[in-house]
Amino acid sequence: MTESVVLREVAETDLPEFFTHQLDPEAGRMAAFVAKDPADRDAFMAHWAKIMADKTITIRTIEHDGGVAGHIASFLRDGTPEVTYWIDPKLWGRGIATAALEQFLLIVPSRPLFARTASDNRGSIRVLEKCGFRQTATETGYANAREAEIEEGVFELV
Ligand SMILES: CC(C)(COP(=O)(O)OP(=O)(O)OC[C@H]1O[C@@H](n2cnc3c(N)ncnc32)[C@H](O)[C@@H]1OP(=O)(O)O)[C@@H](O)C(=O)NCCC(=O)NCCS
Repeated sequence: MTESVVLREVAETDLPEFFTHQLDPEAGRMAAFVAKDPADRDAFMAHWAKIMADKTITIRTIEHDGGVAGHIASFLRDGTPEVTYWIDPKLWGRGIATAALEQFLLIVPSRPLFARTASDNRGSIRVLEKCGFRQTATETGYANAREAEIEEGVFELV
């Protein structure tokens, strides 16, 4: 089922689809550390214009069966490379995030590579573990989608 997952450069026309993906309330709750107002389209577009122009950030559109299934990115947090991803909720549970991360790890050679996920985001934790990441720390941070301080796991791929 995952053979048809392909990573490609992001096109401007993908952005409205990414915007819709992050509007999903359950997805936002899972990811937790999200924008203050996911419905603010201007803020979303401004953020994406900024990250697409940033040479330290690698972003790819995840295609599944020729359609936009989500995105995956690596960026520097205080100089440390970190990966993040988001899949269209309509396509969850098909192995797409796992296949996308496996492929992304081939184009982003930085090691160690880090990832952070809310401690109750079972799906994301499973994706990371299946791709070889191991949890190395636990931190606490303010999560906009929960309007509360929550625990997040710090994962590392060496
Ligand atoms: C987390 C997310 C990326 C998973 O994407 P996905 O394409 O459904 O993941 P996969 O199909 O590759 O699943 C990988 C594993 O996680 C498990 N899994 C996926 N979602 C799960 C959930 N909600 N609860 C428990 N396990 C879950 C799958 O069963 C699979 O495990 P298995 O192979 O042992 O059966 C997706 O739900 C998402 O985009 N969520 C919103 C954004 C987000 O949380 N991003 C991560 C921020 S750190």
